[in-house]
Amino acid sequence: MSVTEPIDFGALPKDFAWGTATSAYQIEGAVTEDGRSPSIWDVFSHTPGKTDNDDHGDIACDHYHRWREDIALMKELGTDAYRLSVAWPRVLPGGEGEVNLKGLDFYDRLIDGLLEAGITPSVTVYHWDLPQVLQDRGGWAARDTAHHLAAYASVLAERLGDRVTRWATLNEPLCSAWIGHLEGRMAPGITDLTTAVRAAYHLLLGHGLATEAIRAAAPGARVGIVNNLSTVAPASDSAEDIAAARRMDGHTNRWWLDPVHGRGFPEDMVDIYGVDLPVRDGDLRTIATDLDWLGLNYYFPAVVEDDPDGPAPFARQVDRSHRPRTGMDWEVDASGIESLLLRLTEEYGARELYVTENGSSYPDVIGADGVIDDSERIAYLHDHLAACARAARKGAPLAGYYAWSLLDNYEWAYGYDKRFGLVHVDYGTQRRTVKASGRSYAGIIRAHREARSRTDGAG
Ligand code: FCB
Repeated sequence: MSVTEPIDFGALPKDFAWGTATSAYQIEGAVTEDGRSPSIWDVFSHTPGKTDNDDHGDIACDHYHRWREDIALMKELGTDAYRLSVAWPRVLPGGEGEVNLKGLDFYDRLIDGLLEAGITPSVTVYHWDLPQVLQDRGGWAARDTAHHLAAYASVLAERLGDRVTRWATLNEPLCSAWIGHLEGRMAPGITDLTTAVRAAYHLLLGHGLATEAIRAAAPGARVGIVNNLSTVAPASDSAEDIAAARRMDGHTNRWWLDPVHGRGFPEDMVDIYGVDLPVRDGDLRTIATDLDWLGLNYYFPAVVEDDPDGPAPFARQVDRSHRPRTGMDWEVDASGIESLLLRLTEEYGARELYVTENGSSYPDVIGADGVIDDSERIAYLHDHLAACARAARKGAPLAGYYAWSLLDNYEWAYGYDKRFGLVHVDYGTQRRTVKASGRSYAGIIRAHREARSRTDGAG
């Protein structure tokens, strides 16, 4: 793939946030240290056969001990923003109630370290690592979990809210609900539609309650939610495939966007799932609590055909193996990120947008000279940034971009073989090596800063 279209730097604001993203369970390791209790991911990944090679996050990138070195890497890349998540079972090992100060202290130090390095933290409250004790009490299928999320968010905002202003409640509730409770390919590994729909509902309720809790504890907080969205197109112009695409769009996009924008849960999808929503008075208002920003995680497009005998939403991705694909076997289509940013702007009235994740996994080869020349990742990054700038030029209020990921890390059920990092991690030695894509990202960041200072100079 060749790098062609230049990035229209002039379309990006001067104070555009250039970041990288990670999540707690994927990098921290130290799973039994300082009072952390097991999360659903510890239990799932230690259940034989659930993950590739039975890989788990016990050590991961050992970031719990190496965070200073990792901040230095962020500086080396020239980034000025970092998206991290907090491990709920470190802060509240019982899921609720007593706060584990040692766990909270870790994030306190990390935030201070980032700020000292001139890097603005963006904190995600929940990136999939529910304390197992809460799963044992029903997990997301239980309404109480939404309230526990809000109480936990409040603890974080009280302690960190004097220094952290950018908060996200949830990362990709779609994955928690649909992949974790319907497809069973992620923790907690359940395959039941009723449970999945209830989990989806309580995740969004928890999002609304947590938003209110963060604002109450930290009045300057700017709160958003992070969704992974896909463009959805029918595989043919048959009425069946067009209807299937509409259902997939409901399942992937509208189900997560409509309720937080005060439109309620999409009725077509409620009918398709056929599960009563556990709505109580006031819930929909809470879910629709006004947001300061929206986060988009974008990886791949969906092209689907009708699948009447399959699981809800009765639509399946067609084989497009002739198209460029990443090492995850995900189709590469940079124009999707542009369409989605514009859709969030035009259809949902977004006032501030961040690309909270975008990136690619390819099988990296370390050259004899130690260099990792990951040209496919460089092209992916460049093309997606060019598409982001196109969206900004057309009016999307894009305020920042977080590359997934700073480091190679634990890619959930895919384990350690899938590498998304701009920085390579040798898991045997924990040695970090900046890849060519990391250098390329640093160059892009520099070029944007230079372009903007030239425009400023010109007046
Ligand atoms: C997203 C997750 C993130 C990472 C990337 C590749 O779905 O939010 O943790 O695994 O995919």
